[in-house]
Amino acid sequence: MEKTTLVQFIRNQEKLADGATGNFTSLMNEILVAAKFVSLEVNGAGIGESIFGLTGKVNVHDEEVQKLDELADNTFCKLVGQSGTVCAITSEELEDPIIIPKEKAGKYIFMMDPLDGSSNIDVDVSIGTIFSIYRKKSPGDEVTQEDLLQKASEQVAAGYIIYGPSTLFIYTSGKGVHGFTLDPTLGEFFLSHPDIKIPERGSWYSINEGNMETWDINQRRYVEYLKEKDPETHRPYKLRYIGSLVADFHRTLLKGGIFMYPGDTKNPAGKLRFLFEAAPLAFVVANAGGAASDGVQAILDQIPTAVHCKTPLFIGSKKEIELAESMLKK
Ligand code: AHG
Ligand code: MN
Ligand code: MN
Repeated sequence: MEKTTLVQFIRNQEKLADGATGNFTSLMNEILVAAKFVSLEVNGAGIGESIFGLTGKVNVHDEEVQKLDELADNTFCKLVGQSGTVCAITSEELEDPIIIPKEKAGKYIFMMDPLDGSSNIDVDVSIGTIFSIYRKKSPGDEVTQEDLLQKASEQVAAGYIIYGPSTLFIYTSGKGVHGFTLDPTLGEFFLSHPDIKIPERGSWYSINEGNMETWDINQRRYVEYLKEKDPETHRPYKLRYIGSLVADFHRTLLKGGIFMYPGDTKNPAGKLRFLFEAAPLAFVVANAGGAASDGVQAILDQIPTAVHCKTPLFIGSKKEIELAESMLKK
């Protein structure tokens, strides 16, 4: 058979790594099994017992928790938590980290936004899961703040799954960004997008312009600039905004351009979570030749101050991030 499965691909990559024990392959395997479960649920979301709608709970970010948020969170926590490869799990939906008992713990730390784009669940628009993996840093068995709050560049691997027209699994372990498509008849992910590179520039911008009144003057000027007509600089740019970060990011990764969620007067640090959204996608985009910034500093150079802290995010083609940073500074 010609096609490469995700597990074969990871196993081959890990064989090349120094001191590989197979734990990373096992962890990735659990992630992909969880992804298949969630994909099945998402695809069936309109039929049978309804998994649409709210749970009636509110999460640590003051957002209403949807049934699918909870289902995805439980699925990933259960499968990854039992894998013997992680010592802690943190999630956008969990106020406190899950610490795995010493006897069942491994050396990795798993972080996730289990269901991204929840506002699109019941309108049949792409949603996803974003994940990130770090290695336990501190000596001893105890999981400390040093382990949970690492510099974003310390990620061992990161990626996302999109539950869209097809289910895609995109990941990097620092050796290129690779994409796999789920064959629903076989229930297997096959390599479909090897070594993704983001174009250096791209005339697409992605932002919730409904928030314009709350932006600072430089942010407004920058977006106005993108809309001016100047064929030499490929302006006006085209606007695309879905409202699911994974989907907006995936388009940006493949076509180039910029996705932004800036800080504003209401929320100076913006809306997106550093560890569950910004850092993993920053690791992916950097491995595809792009960049991610909070408007001033690269996301990968930053250490989060808390598990649930937020950050402004500008992510995409390298030249577009440079342009944004220079215009936001003025
Ligand atoms: P989540 O569904 O995990 O809470 O994330 C929603 C995020 C992200 O997916 C998207 O980019 C952004 O919220 C959209 O926010 P607005 O509705 O404010 O544009
Ligand atoms: Mn999200
Ligand atoms: Mn979410």
